[in-house]
Amino acid sequence: MSEKVFVFDTTLRDGEQVPGCQLNTIEKIEVGLALEALGVDILEAGFPISSPGDFNSVVEISKNIRKPTICALTRARKEDIECAAEALKFAARGRIHTGIGSSDIHIKNKLRTTREQILEQAAWAASFARNFVDDVEFFCEDAGRADLDFLAKMVETVIAAGATVVNIPDTTGYCLPEEYGKRIKFLYDHVPNIDKAIISVHCHNDLGLATANTIAGIKNGARQIEVTMNGIGERAGNTSLEEVAMILKSHEASLKLFTDINIKKIYPTSRLITRLMRMPVQPNKAIVGRNAFAHSSGIHQDGVLKNRENYEIIDPHDVGIPESLIVLTARSGRAALKHRFEKIGLTMTQEELDVAYKSFLDLADQRKEIYDDDLLEMMGMSKEGKIFEVESLRVECGDGGSHAKVILRKNGQLVEGEGNGNGPVDATIKAIKSIVGNLCHLEEYLVQAITGGSGDVGKVHIQVSKEGSFYYGFGADTDIVLASAKAYVDAINKL
Ligand code: KIV
Ligand code: ZN
Repeated sequence: MSEKVFVFDTTLRDGEQVPGCQLNTIEKIEVGLALEALGVDILEAGFPISSPGDFNSVVEISKNIRKPTICALTRARKEDIECAAEALKFAARGRIHTGIGSSDIHIKNKLRTTREQILEQAAWAASFARNFVDDVEFFCEDAGRADLDFLAKMVETVIAAGATVVNIPDTTGYCLPEEYGKRIKFLYDHVPNIDKAIISVHCHNDLGLATANTIAGIKNGARQIEVTMNGIGERAGNTSLEEVAMILKSHEASLKLFTDINIKKIYPTSRLITRLMRMPVQPNKAIVGRNAFAHSSGIHQDGVLKNRENYEIIDPHDVGIPESLIVLTARSGRAALKHRFEKIGLTMTQEELDVAYKSFLDLADQRKEIYDDDLLEMMGMSKEGKIFEVESLRVECGDGGSHAKVILRKNGQLVEGEGNGNGPVDATIKAIKSIVGNLCHLEEYLVQAITGGSGDVGKVHIQVSKEGSFYYGFGADTDIVLASAKAYVDAINKL
């Protein structure tokens, strides 16, 4: 029989505190609803005393998201706990997450107090929070570097005082997996009342070990994981939800642990967070990165086309990704080229393919990646699909927002459009949409400078989606707003 591991999502608290990732209340509700549909058990909605905005978000999330337990963070202080209780008053089920430093480094250098006083304050905070809710989680901050005997004493004290969940965070991402696992095991072996609470693991990724440490924690008895979507969070981030969910899914037979995450929703949720938080996912990020299911070497492409399982341990459909990608580069073989030709509607004999493959290699040697357009151009068919071209663009931007006026050439005729946006690129895309309509969803937008100088040519890559299919657009110009317009129009032409 497999045992359940509770998923505590802190995208809206540890994730949202990352500079640049701030969301307004409406956006937080959108994320909250997506996390609810994803199946998280506990949703940490914010730190109410930190700002009126955070307080309000916890209130609104409590009103709108009813399935998961809604959690609010506090320090071990009266005013924080009262404020969190007030913010949670509309929650169907509310949890107060209070805590204090547990390592000597924090006790001496941050809190400037003694271990004895920490124990006293911890016990007081856990029992005070229980006056407001039945579900109290206590975090022993910097537990990854705390003295083990003292940590065990602290865990015992807060459970006795009323904590129902005890969080053992590796706040600084310092631990090695084996060592972190041993910490959790030590607590199970030395805390007499540990069966009265759930032990939770909250790991940071400063050494790239957050996921490994989380797995070590649950292998040693922890039954709650604290995670964020895409692994966003303070500094190098937190353990990523999608990684742990898929590790448990892929190894359920041996680990005998499961979560209630609806894995089909992983990719759409990841995209939503990327879009709203404007925090791109690194392309090689496990599960949700652009390259997580992209195959580029000839040997792998041939293998995956024969049978996906040769090089994929997860079916991309299972996590909500429409398909694996075969990326055409100079390392691709004939099998990949034939597959792509068939996808764009070109079937050919072996002799024709051999000839085309030679031209393909010449082209691929000059470019990093070959797109469908390049193949059509190579086969002398490029102009057919080009309905729109950018003729001219004028943009005004500044404090009060941006306005763009674009002229496109549509099948030879000039057509004009205008748009307002919260920046020059947003206004330009809206101006183009005023001509072509809202045909697709913008999935990804990437700007690169070729050599890095400010007068350099900027390259813009855009990915759009329509009805589950993805299309790429590319544009280059010394003006990156114009490059963006060209990239967007390039993608539109491929729809
Ligand atoms: O990393 C950490 O220790 C935290 C606590 C507030 C739980 O985020
Ligand atoms: Zn944290």
